[in-house]
Amino acid sequence: MTSQTLRDARRYEETYEKRIKKEDRPEFHFSSRVGWLNDPNGFSYYQGKYHLFYQYHPYDPYWGPMHWGHAVSEDLLHWEYLPAALAPDQPYDRDGCFSGSAVELPDGRQLLMYTGVKRIPQADGGFVDEQTQCLAVGDGIDYEKCEQNPVLDEKDIPEGCSRADFRDPKMFRNEDGTYSMVAVNRAADGSGQVLLYKSADGFHWDFKSIVKENKHRFGVMWECPDLFKLDGKDVMICSPMDMLPEGFEYHNGNGTLCLIGTFDEETGKFHEEHHQTVDYGIDFYAPQTIRTPDGRIILLAWMQNWDTARLQLPDTAWFGQMTVPRELSIRNGRLYENPIRELESLRRNRVEYQDVTVADGTVSLDGINGRRVDLELELSPGDGQKVYEKFALRFAQDDTYHTAVSFRPHESILKLDRKFSGSRRAAIHQRRSLVRSENGKLKVRLILDRFSAEVFVNDGEQVMTITMYTDQAADKISFFADGAVKMNVIKYDLITDAE
Ligand code: FRU
Repeated sequence: MTSQTLRDARRYEETYEKRIKKEDRPEFHFSSRVGWLNDPNGFSYYQGKYHLFYQYHPYDPYWGPMHWGHAVSEDLLHWEYLPAALAPDQPYDRDGCFSGSAVELPDGRQLLMYTGVKRIPQADGGFVDEQTQCLAVGDGIDYEKCEQNPVLDEKDIPEGCSRADFRDPKMFRNEDGTYSMVAVNRAADGSGQVLLYKSADGFHWDFKSIVKENKHRFGVMWECPDLFKLDGKDVMICSPMDMLPEGFEYHNGNGTLCLIGTFDEETGKFHEEHHQTVDYGIDFYAPQTIRTPDGRIILLAWMQNWDTARLQLPDTAWFGQMTVPRELSIRNGRLYENPIRELESLRRNRVEYQDVTVADGTVSLDGINGRRVDLELELSPGDGQKVYEKFALRFAQDDTYHTAVSFRPHESILKLDRKFSGSRRAAIHQRRSLVRSENGKLKVRLILDRFSAEVFVNDGEQVMTITMYTDQAADKISFFADGAVKMNVIKYDLITDAE
């Protein structure tokens, strides 16, 4: 039975979505149907289509009582909105249906697991959350919450751990047909941990182990865990809150963490061999992965971060986008990310330049402009072995505005800078990252959409992501060098419809 709360949300989104013009949305990045979007949820392949649910507050472009929005796609680039899937309409989730995941049941139904949030008033006038794990079963459009909800509550977490921080279940189906699920929790020491649960049928769940304890190493609490196999290794991803910076690897605030190592099925423990950030830019959080029918692991994330959310002007009908879906691989013990190969099907109007020298000044090239662009750049010194001081690629540019990615080879620092993107907020606008480069050589692939830039460095060894809401008329691209840089450039427009 669909509740009044869900019916209201569905009616609202259907009415108000129509008021948003196609050109006021990103071209190929997923954006909220209407109102606010944060984490991707229930990212899955079900009955021939990719399903993407998301943390959703349809009624205004701010976070509020969480619903689950819903959309489907055949290629992860063209999305069709479906009616909202979940609304906070039960006693155990009355204050929000928080993040979770989806699997297909053997009988063909789709099972969603999400965190139900109930805010309990305290004697001092404050509130404390009660977070529990809940199920809903459906056919790809309509979902029925299960009678036995919540299926996991404070009885199912280790002694002394927090019931106020127990969330974001990521389920997966094991080869033997059973199910596993990882969720985050706050340990007795106040820091995050990932818990593992097992189920024979997807409906009855038992605590198995603490997969990994943070012990205040990476931030405080962790959010949105994920665990999967990739290129012969096990990978655990989560989003730590309240981090302190560590060199150029981790920055202040909420970040993302990737651990590569081995997961011991017997003990349910993760043994870490390597750790790194997932995205070195500003706007990236709470990623979720899927295994595609052809065996690829694809990741997408909320293309935003809590401290920098809502940088744009206040009169928008939607807020929140997902990153471009990224294919993951492990090379030299590191996580690599590249845009999904399906993106190449959107490429139009190839323009190529070989061996262009930019020396002590700015160059623009015929046919290299636009705000929906795939641009591949190879840099090397333009003056024998003498390495230049600085190179900058400027985009979303006009006489007033630009956003830039710049490279200082002597420091091996790549910087993303949206200070001149038109933002009027006193938030972070720049981020630096240490990149691998020898003799001034660097490969950069810029994926530009109307409101974002994703910079893939050295064939996906690192990625830096930002959003910017610069007027769309600012569509110039230019190249600057202090010293001499030689570059090869290939540029395409990225267009979802045959225009
Ligand atoms: C992460 C997060 C999750 C939670 C959701 C609430 O961004 O805080 O931990 O489930 O957002 O919207």
